[in-house]
Amino acid sequence: MTPETLLGYPVVVGAGVLEQVAAHARRAGLERAVVLCDANVEAYARRVSAAFAGSVPLRAFRLGEERKTLESLAAVYAALGETEADRRTLVIGVGGGVAGDLFGFAAATYMRGLPFLNVATSLVAMVDAAIGGKTAIDLPAGKNLAGAFADPVAVVADVEALRSLPEAQIREGLGEMIKHAILSGQAAFARLEALAGHAFAGWPWSDLVAENVAVKAAVVAGDRLEGGDRERLNLGHTFAHAFERASSYQLTHGNAVAVGLRAAGLAALAHGTWSQRDQERLVRLLLAFELPIAHVGLDVEAVLAAMRMDKKRRDGRLRFVLPRALGEVACGIELEDAIVREAVEHCTR
Ligand SMILES: NC(=O)c1ccc[n+]([C@@H]2O[C@H](COP(=O)([O-])OP(=O)(O)OC[C@H]3O[C@@H](n4cnc5c(N)ncnc54)[C@H](O)[C@@H]3O)[C@@H](O)[C@H]2O)c1
Ligand SMILES: [Zn+2]
Repeated sequence: MTPETLLGYPVVVGAGVLEQVAAHARRAGLERAVVLCDANVEAYARRVSAAFAGSVPLRAFRLGEERKTLESLAAVYAALGETEADRRTLVIGVGGGVAGDLFGFAAATYMRGLPFLNVATSLVAMVDAAIGGKTAIDLPAGKNLAGAFADPVAVVADVEALRSLPEAQIREGLGEMIKHAILSGQAAFARLEALAGHAFAGWPWSDLVAENVAVKAAVVAGDRLEGGDRERLNLGHTFAHAFERASSYQLTHGNAVAVGLRAAGLAALAHGTWSQRDQERLVRLLLAFELPIAHVGLDVEAVLAAMRMDKKRRDGRLRFVLPRALGEVACGIELEDAIVREAVEHCTR
């Protein structure tokens, strides 16, 4: 099944597809549009608005991970008011995962919901954040605490935008791509292995993004509101979130996912459900992509405490998603404390 059939909306992936946004708006039968963008990608947003026949208002916002706030949301609502957006107005959000989460949430809630089209410009947004209909902002009490499930009318991922994306930001997406490859199987994993050592500029991005969209779409489609199968996407993430928090977010999410995948592999190895050979392959790939496999010097107790906090926030039990083989994961695994501790210890030295 195609992502469109699975998700119920098209995901347009390709080189030079930015200009197709206007056509998708027309197809959705929407008469008016407003373009909202991350100021860093205003040039792409201008191309999107220029492709419309009439004039389309454009508003740029200074974003960044620390600006996914109520204050930013208020500024976006104000812009929607100023531009006289109403229920017939398509909100087009252009940018990375922060832009998608913020503009998507604003669109989902302004006047009880305006149609939203997500133009993903970062690798994280293309392979992960833009797919699945989750939107959110952070609250002082924590990340992504206020949000909504709201499907866009379409997602557009123009891989040409990746050319201006800093290498560190490309790397932010690689951990999730490795995670998707483990969920997908041998072929996807081998495909990534074959890219190691090749400059990003030469990677077949259209194919890679499309494959990652397909993997996430297949998981998400069976579990729109996150009660079951979607848990698979948490592979490596229980460890990753704890590492992020224990490092006071010095470790970025993408890097934490890399460490978290290694930790999940180590735990699965100790649990007896993953092979040494596959673990070695995983570590080799992480290293080949210049991703971290440890956060040296991080306090083990702080990581374990962060995990316990996570446990308290859920229903008192910590359940891990562990790899079993390439293409197979096990969900809901309750690990012995000693196994968790040992995996964390390995990833802090
Ligand atoms: N909703 C979901 O399901 C979901 C899933 C994963 C992540 N997220 C969220 O996504 C966010 C992370 O996304 P991100 O890594 O894209 O962060 P981001 O949106 O901050 O983008 C990273 C940086 O790259 C810049 N940028 C984006 N596209 C560019 C381009 N083409 N050229 C040059 N610069 C560009 C941005 O301005 C920013 O400085 C987090 O807030 C996370 O919570 C959401
Ligand atoms: Zn993630």
